[in-house]
Amino acid sequence: MAPLRPLLFLLPLILTQSPQISSQNLSPSQIKTLFRLQRMLEYPPSLSLINNATNFCYLPSSPLLSISCYGTRITELEINGDSSAPLSPSFSADSFFTTLTRLPSLTSLSLVSLGLWGPLSPKIARLSSIRDLNLSSNHLYGEIPAGISSMVNLESLVLSGNSFNGTVPDLRSLANLTELVLKNNSFGGNVPIGFASFDQLQKLDLSMNQFNGKIPPSLFSLPLVRYMDLSRNRFAGVLPAKLLCGDNLEFVDISRNLLMGGLPSCLSSDSSTRVVLKSWNCLNSVGDSRYQHPKSYCSRDPLAAVLPSPEKEEGSKKSKLGLILGILGGIVAGAALLSLMVFLIFKKARPEDVGSVKLPKPITQKTLKTSVQVSPRTPADTNTCNYTLD
Ligand SMILES: *[C@@H]1O[C@H](CO)[C@@H](O)[C@H](O)[C@H]1NC(C)=O
Ligand SMILES: *[C@@H]1O[C@H](CO)[C@@H](O)[C@H](O)[C@H]1NC(C)=O
Ligand SMILES: *[C@@H]1O[C@H](CO)[C@@H](O)[C@H](O)[C@H]1NC(C)=O
Ligand SMILES: *[C@@H]1O[C@H](CO)[C@@H](O)[C@H](O)[C@H]1NC(C)=O
Ligand SMILES: *[C@@H]1O[C@H](CO)[C@@H](O)[C@H](O)[C@H]1NC(C)=O
Repeated sequence: MAPLRPLLFLLPLILTQSPQISSQNLSPSQIKTLFRLQRMLEYPPSLSLINNATNFCYLPSSPLLSISCYGTRITELEINGDSSAPLSPSFSADSFFTTLTRLPSLTSLSLVSLGLWGPLSPKIARLSSIRDLNLSSNHLYGEIPAGISSMVNLESLVLSGNSFNGTVPDLRSLANLTELVLKNNSFGGNVPIGFASFDQLQKLDLSMNQFNGKIPPSLFSLPLVRYMDLSRNRFAGVLPAKLLCGDNLEFVDISRNLLMGGLPSCLSSDSSTRVVLKSWNCLNSVGDSRYQHPKSYCSRDPLAAVLPSPEKEEGSKKSKLGLILGILGGIVAGAALLSLMVFLIFKKARPEDVGSVKLPKPITQKTLKTSVQVSPRTPADTNTCNYTLD
């Protein structure tokens, strides 16, 4: 027994060393992929650390770059750029995501502020081992590919600060999702009912989009949900009085929507365990009404609350322009008519015929009447503009 002791003593040391030993054997194709990504990302400063590296899996720790490996493969890749500008026009999102699929063992991928632009390729779904995906602060646009629902290992999906639009695909199959952050994009449509089946969801951030329709009440009662930010959207309607809040719900932000009526009791009072932000809706009896819009703001156009259509805003801009042209035209025509009348009166009816002087009067009245009809529409248009700017 005694002679074995030194060996047993060494065993933990050997074990802790072994990942390092294997990481030195990162497969050549993984290394090649890393350098290819570096080139496609147009050599971001945060990736320059790999240039002289001999061991990619044990780079000096940095908040800008983190690479972890298991065996011969990269399992975690985090690159943080500082770029607010999009990559050059020659960047191809499709080839970029295709190249990424050569790192099939990735469980965590974070590519933040790197200037990525273009649509998110459906090929991303080939990275089926991914648990954490963070693509925030880039310039990705278009719809989220429906195939993302096959990435069943996803636990955290963060796409904030891009220009994604369209509706969010059905994500019901992502049963292990704990965090979904879609903040600051241009998503529209309703919150898919499927959201209500996220048993593991703790954080939901849909803020700063154009989501509309009603908020599914079951969102608030998800068993583990802790943080819910739905602010700055176009959610409308009345929240049911009987709505239930989950036991873990600590933070709810529903401000700057088009919600009406009263607040359900579980959201109406701030408590030490729950913060609720609700300003700039059309809610009643929520304390300070100075921070709510009048009811007409939320109900002014029921369609506006349902359809996110930019055409509509453009339409109202067009009708506004038409209105201005109409008014101008009216004024010009009125003035022309007036001067014609004056001219005729002077020329023709010099000696008698005072009666014809009455003629210009109804015309002036008509012009005036048109511009009066116009004015109530103007504040409504202004409202729409304000809302859009919000
Ligand atoms: C890599 O090594 C070369 C030569 O040793 C050195 O000039 C260069 O600055 C190094 N680059 C980085 C990113 O450390
Ligand atoms: C995603 O990246 C952003 C920017 O670095 C960071 O603030 C955020 O915490 C990340 N989210 C996750 C879940 O890693
Ligand atoms: C979800 O998580 C559980 C526990 O962590 C795990 O056993 C299960 O395999 C996961 N499901 C999927 C689809 O990844
Ligand atoms: C929203 O995202 C854009 C980039 O798409 C970014 O420039 C802007 O600062 C973000 N706004 C907020 C409030 O996060
Ligand atoms: C999303 O944006 C793209 C271009 O960025 C546009 O072609 C498309 O029509 C938009 N889709 C929706 C539903 O707004």
